[in-house]
Amino acid sequence: MDLERHDYDVVVVGAGGAGLRAAIAAHEAGARTAVVCKSLLGKAHTVMAEGGIAAAMANLYPEDNWRVHFRDTMRGGKMLNHWRMAQLHAQEAPDRVRELEDWGALFDRTPDGLISQRDFGGHRYARLAHVGDRTGLELIRTLQQRTVALGIDVYMECTVTRLLTDDDGVTGAFGYWRESGRFVAWQAPAVVLATGGIGKSYKVTSNSWEYTGDGHSLAMQAGATLVNMEFVQFHPTGMVWPPSVRGILVTESVRGDGGVLKNSAGNRFMFDYIPDFFRKETAETEAEADRWYEDKKNNRRPPELLPRDEVARAINSEVKAGRGTPHGGVFLDIASRRSAEYIRKRLPSMYHQFKELAEVDITAEAMEVGPTCHYVMGGVEVDPDTEAARVPGLFAAGEVAGGMHGSNRLGGNSLSDLLVFGRRAGAAAAEHARGRHGFELPDEALADAARAALAPFDREGGENPYTVQHDLQQTMHDLVGIIRTAPEMEQALERIAALKERVANLSVEGHRQYNPGWHLALDLPHMLVVSECIARAALERQESRGGHTRDDFPATDSEWARTNLICTRAPDGSVALTRQPLPQMPSDLAQIFEETS
Ligand code: FUM
Repeated sequence: MDLERHDYDVVVVGAGGAGLRAAIAAHEAGARTAVVCKSLLGKAHTVMAEGGIAAAMANLYPEDNWRVHFRDTMRGGKMLNHWRMAQLHAQEAPDRVRELEDWGALFDRTPDGLISQRDFGGHRYARLAHVGDRTGLELIRTLQQRTVALGIDVYMECTVTRLLTDDDGVTGAFGYWRESGRFVAWQAPAVVLATGGIGKSYKVTSNSWEYTGDGHSLAMQAGATLVNMEFVQFHPTGMVWPPSVRGILVTESVRGDGGVLKNSAGNRFMFDYIPDFFRKETAETEAEADRWYEDKKNNRRPPELLPRDEVARAINSEVKAGRGTPHGGVFLDIASRRSAEYIRKRLPSMYHQFKELAEVDITAEAMEVGPTCHYVMGGVEVDPDTEAARVPGLFAAGEVAGGMHGSNRLGGNSLSDLLVFGRRAGAAAAEHARGRHGFELPDEALADAARAALAPFDREGGENPYTVQHDLQQTMHDLVGIIRTAPEMEQALERIAALKERVANLSVEGHRQYNPGWHLALDLPHMLVVSECIARAALERQESRGGHTRDDFPATDSEWARTNLICTRAPDGSVALTRQPLPQMPSDLAQIFEETS
């Protein structure tokens, strides 16, 4: 077999914020480190976290601190978050932001010269450190520059198709160069998965082609567990028109900076959707909400800044009730509330995005927006302090890891998550690698991985990968979307079973040099595994919570408040579910909810 081989201590799969931060930490801990990424370096879903990095730096509100951030994060996740991850995240996020600044990130400033912080849904105080509406891009630029400056090896446009293990844990990874189709293997005692999310299993998504759940599926295949897979975040505001750009993100910063949501009758409908859980701190009239913009400290927050799950459901209801826009969304209006100069300064990307893609001038007209699949809260179950999965030598950080966000992530908490846990995962992986030597990659395992990768070329007249992908996306969109019911999810599982048979019969034409049909054929099994996890867990959880709304079980249930669903790979390759009690929160942390309520 024509195989390129490499030898490292730590291999990081994925070069978004979590992957790059993990690689920097592993390198600084003395590990020989490589980063492998499917796309060009710098192209990552991290850039879609446009509005900012959540960190209780108290630059605008001195009363902000990690305890309030911890409380907001837990409440946003409807208390299903792993308390220890939420604690570490809130405590360490400010240092990670300051470190990024030391490494060259250029944040917007307050008049006093401090890092500016903006409002986002579910955060008690304005705490998102930002760079206009391009914060994720600046974060990636900074980490990428540091990765290159440190001399860390980067394998880009290279896809990992299999993790390699022996009885003692991880031994490396196997993959192919997208351009040449040639195989490559990395021998390494520690692998950090930082592959991001699963959005491409859905029809309308802010995710680009790379996000096919590879890390989730590779981890399961290697024997790791996934947690919270039923919770999928639909960002309330994606573009809805023209059809070619449907799903592209419209940052929450538009609402954080004063934008309001209106239905086709011109009503600010969010006032009708304030849940009891947040009623005490949410404005119930326009006058009250407007006062908040003048004096944010003393007034109740506008309902457009409720957590994302609440806003996405409200938009969905308005459209279903026939109060949507001509193209099936609602209106997001900042033009009537802020000057053109302010909009262009604070939201430059949104201004250009709508101008160029939809011929809409957002300084003069409202945008049409609707929910778009943006993020999966579920992911690899990890130890909160080290991000170690259940397989020795396997680590996961960023969106591919589960637990941190519970049933719903607050906007801005993804960038801080990937910095905090990327760093921890890289350091722990380097530490693990120091204690593991003397193993080989067996030729047989490599040959088997190569055979599996080439199988679609050996079949003639089989299924077309693009047709199968289309049918899967339609299934998830129609049957396991924002609002779910048992009969629909049962139907989804039947369709997924049929799609699995079709995937086993995929065939591709041509040769191995840059062949996107072949690449998709290798991604599809991952997409089916994560889709099955989502549908099975969503069917099992008979309540509504965060990013999981059941029409047939509309209330939250106190029993389910104590239970996580864990997905493992059954011996026949199907997904098995088990229930697991939530870890007990220590009393000093539980106390925070009383102090701050
Ligand atoms: O709306 C946004 O800017 C997205 C941020 C995030 O997902 O954290």
